[in-house]
Amino acid sequence: MHMNYDFDRLISRRGTNALAEDGFENYLFGADAPAPELDVPREELISMWVADMQFAAPDAAIDAISERLKHPVFGYTMNFDDQLYQAFHAWCAERYDWRFAREDMLVALGVIPALFGLVEYVCRPGDKVLSLTPAYGYFKHATVQRDREFVTSRLLASDDGGYAIDFDDFETKVSDPAVKLFFLCHPHNPTGRVWTDDELRRMGELCIANGVKIVSDEIHCDLLRTGTRHTPLARLFPGSRDIITCMAVSKTFNLAGMMIATVIVPDPALRSEWKRRHYPFVNPLSLAAAAGAYRNGAPWLDELRSYLDANFAWTQRFLNEHLPKARFRIPDATYLAWVDLRAYFDESVNLTRFFLEKAGVILEGGEMFVENGACRIRLNLACPRTQVQRSLEKIRDAILRFDKRPDRR
Ligand SMILES: Cc1ncc(COP(=O)(O)O)c(C=O)c1O
Repeated sequence: MHMNYDFDRLISRRGTNALAEDGFENYLFGADAPAPELDVPREELISMWVADMQFAAPDAAIDAISERLKHPVFGYTMNFDDQLYQAFHAWCAERYDWRFAREDMLVALGVIPALFGLVEYVCRPGDKVLSLTPAYGYFKHATVQRDREFVTSRLLASDDGGYAIDFDDFETKVSDPAVKLFFLCHPHNPTGRVWTDDELRRMGELCIANGVKIVSDEIHCDLLRTGTRHTPLARLFPGSRDIITCMAVSKTFNLAGMMIATVIVPDPALRSEWKRRHYPFVNPLSLAAAAGAYRNGAPWLDELRSYLDANFAWTQRFLNEHLPKARFRIPDATYLAWVDLRAYFDESVNLTRFFLEKAGVILEGGEMFVENGACRIRLNLACPRTQVQRSLEKIRDAILRFDKRPDRR
């Protein structure tokens, strides 16, 4: 395939206030944790953690921002007109055969603020929110910081790196009358699973039968491996008012710092509640960027996806050859590699700290994902291939040094 976009270019983000490079200590270890003892100079750390990309955003977004900049007033802005709806709705219809009314679409300052809001609008204090683990950390944060209880159903890991839902356990948990909301992550971060239509139907039916609303966080839905198509949960339940869908340009087009997301809420009562309570403004540049990206960003995204496919293929070959006891399966979606290192480590090792200190690679160990992630690491492969290669070599060297320690024999 001929490439029109240069995903091989290494772009330094130094001096841009990037969380990926400057904010990892606080995020990964907490404000009061001891400072890491680095074996390499700080400038040489390789960032493979937070879920944004090291790639330039598509011109489709940048040009739309430039166009908006020609108007010199940046006052309070809301999503009044139909431009974002038209671009985004056409995207959903074309790519996932999914349609919804203009009035169903709300706009938030990102999926995270939407999660915090929805916990409050759907549940009372003391109610419970269910999710599958390992889980994206903010599902738990949004729940407990709003005084709701977080309950979990553990995914079942198989020896080849696959994951499945434990439906017996899920059914038990979802039928607790205190559970009012289910946070579904589809595709799933961190495992990369795309839930099948059967799995989606089963989860959806169990929730609906038990009066549990579903927030389907589909933020990774545009990053499926080439040749496969995303099915929004809501598409399988036409007419249902119980499913809230979150999507965003953050992951798809690397615009997380723009802070904008679309939330599709078919229930008019919940929409009214949202409108009464939710912070209503958006950044005018973000609104322009999102509409522009959905309107004109498809060619960039399609090329990005094949670049990511190749990064995964490279990673799989490398692991097979150099770390044969690691268990890894190329994920159905996302740019996140979830690698099982149980053969090399036990649960006593904090892998986030280990790889930071011993390999100079900033990554997220399984402990970052609520529970059920022990001895795994999550690597963000949305970066130039040379960076994937360098980081994996450093990871390998650190593991082999650790494996050879005399006390390991
Ligand atoms: C499942 C999931 N939801 C939400 C977010 C963050 O969304 P936003 O940047 O739109 O707030 C992420 C980012 O990693 C994510 O993985």
